[in-house]
Amino acid sequence: MKHLIILAHPNPASFSSSLVKALHDHLLSEGQEVTVRNLYETGFNPVLSADDFSALADNKVPKDIEIEQGYVKWADHLIFAYPVWWGGMPAVLKGYIDRVFTEGFAYEYVAEGSKGLLSPRKGSTICSTGACSEEYGKVQDAMKVISGEVIFDFTGIKPYRQLFYGGVPSVSDEVRKSYIQDAIREFSK
Ligand SMILES: Cc1cc2nc3c(=O)[nH]c(=O)nc-3n(C[C@H](O)[C@H](O)[C@H](O)COP(=O)(O)O)c2cc1C
Repeated sequence: MKHLIILAHPNPASFSSSLVKALHDHLLSEGQEVTVRNLYETGFNPVLSADDFSALADNKVPKDIEIEQGYVKWADHLIFAYPVWWGGMPAVLKGYIDRVFTEGFAYEYVAEGSKGLLSPRKGSTICSTGACSEEYGKVQDAMKVISGEVIFDFTGIKPYRQLFYGGVPSVSDEVRKSYIQDAIREFSK
């Protein structure tokens, strides 16, 4: 399996970054293929601009978008890993999806509405929250609709795992480690 992990966290010492590093190392140890795209490290520009619209209208894909689309094409499984900020994904990741999942690459409009173009890929999310999961069910459900239906189903990606780890800043190190082990189990062969 070829996993593309798209990480949206500016702090290498964060829980999300540690989880992604441990998951990356584990998947490699199982002989799986993994690429991590850390959007802060690569400096991905998340603003879908007027220039992007006019280039795409001329069937010219801006170079930075083309590079990221290349990674998506390579992968069998996309994993978005991020901290929940204001009930959703960090702006850089939203902007990555705005710019990389373009019409003609990720979806197209057809007579019956739209058609996803990224099948048969699978898609997962790994989210950390400050709120504990017991008090955050409604928001998690809303986020699952956005990721699972609005983004994955729409683009032909089959939703796989949608993981939430709660109370990350306040739980013990032991609990944080158990979260990381849980994520590893979920994606192990
Ligand atoms: C800008 C910002 C917005 C946040 N919004 C939320 C939120 O809406 N819900 C929540 O549960 N936690 C929220 N948090 C807390 C983070 O989700 C939490 O600190 C993070 O998941 C911890 O994991 P990390 O070490 O990977 O950052 C927010 C934190 C920041 C910095």
